[in-house]
Amino acid sequence: MTQLFVAGAGLMGAGIAQTAIVNGLDVTLREVDEALVNRGVDNIRKRLDSQVAKGRMDAAARDAALARLHPTTSLEAAGRADFVIEAITENVDLKRELFKRLDSICRPDTILASNTSSIPITRLAAATKRPDRVIGMHFFSPVPVMELLEIIRGRETSEATLAAALELGRKLHKKPITSLDYPGFIVNRMLVPFVNEAIWALMQGIGSREDIDAGARLGLRHPMGPLELGDFVGLDVHLYICDVLYEGLKDPKFAAPPLLRQMVEAGHLGRKSGRGFYRYAPDGTRVPD
Ligand code: 3HC
Repeated sequence: MTQLFVAGAGLMGAGIAQTAIVNGLDVTLREVDEALVNRGVDNIRKRLDSQVAKGRMDAAARDAALARLHPTTSLEAAGRADFVIEAITENVDLKRELFKRLDSICRPDTILASNTSSIPITRLAAATKRPDRVIGMHFFSPVPVMELLEIIRGRETSEATLAAALELGRKLHKKPITSLDYPGFIVNRMLVPFVNEAIWALMQGIGSREDIDAGARLGLRHPMGPLELGDFVGLDVHLYICDVLYEGLKDPKFAAPPLLRQMVEAGHLGRKSGRGFYRYAPDGTRVPD
């Protein structure tokens, strides 16, 4: 059985781990301290409980899935993994440091994947002595729900590594697309200008936040409007991706709107901070201003 090691038990890491255990994989989920790893496990347990309550999963399947989840604070536990997926905070220095450590801990044949939404895979691979076995596996939030898996080939990624990532994606029941390692890959290259255009429209008073979002929901059949989606992803995360795209491609269409930067500077990061374009209760539900 594939031994998967997921580094980071935040929204994305816990979502990846949940998807993997439900699909029969054995998963070691690692965070830097007990409190963070326990929070990740609690979130997974709550979501599986809710699947059972909705009649989508039986209690025995939930218990079997949870028995495949092994929480840890030890990075050394990655020594037993066939496949590592890194899903820590979106910071290039932290990720490079982690890849360097994983490279020294993991077996030579272990594949190191990153869930980064914007950091070049080639830059992460260069922190290791196995750049041919480093690849991007970009999941979408909420991971257990979204079908897409964007697979990114770094400059040195081998065919065998690509094949293994595609195989893992199939085991997770995701639908993969593959991208070359250029800024924003495929999806964020499309998403960033779209969300930014909505923010410019709001900033210039062209429409209210509700009308801008309704435009995309009702007129384009998007499940969420672009401002709601920005709040959902996190405005700090969105700004980071804008900056990577703008720096990498030097095209003004990727420049962050001033309103976005101002909101992030004010700490209005979207759902996770309780305030973004809209207001949220601690459980993430929308509340009136
Ligand atoms: N984690 C896990 N599951 C979640 C969840 C979460 N945070 N939020 C909702 N869900 C699940 C619910 O449990 C429910 O599952 P079920 O059908 O098995 O019961 C299902 O999603 C639908 O949830 P709801 O009925 O509560 O709500 P909605 O029907 O309004 O759907 C949504 C919520 C799935 C989030 C939907 O609004 C949606 O698809 N939004 C767009 C999401 C999107 O575009 N994501 C991509 C973001 S971009 C990205 O991630 C890339 C990055 O690089 C920026």
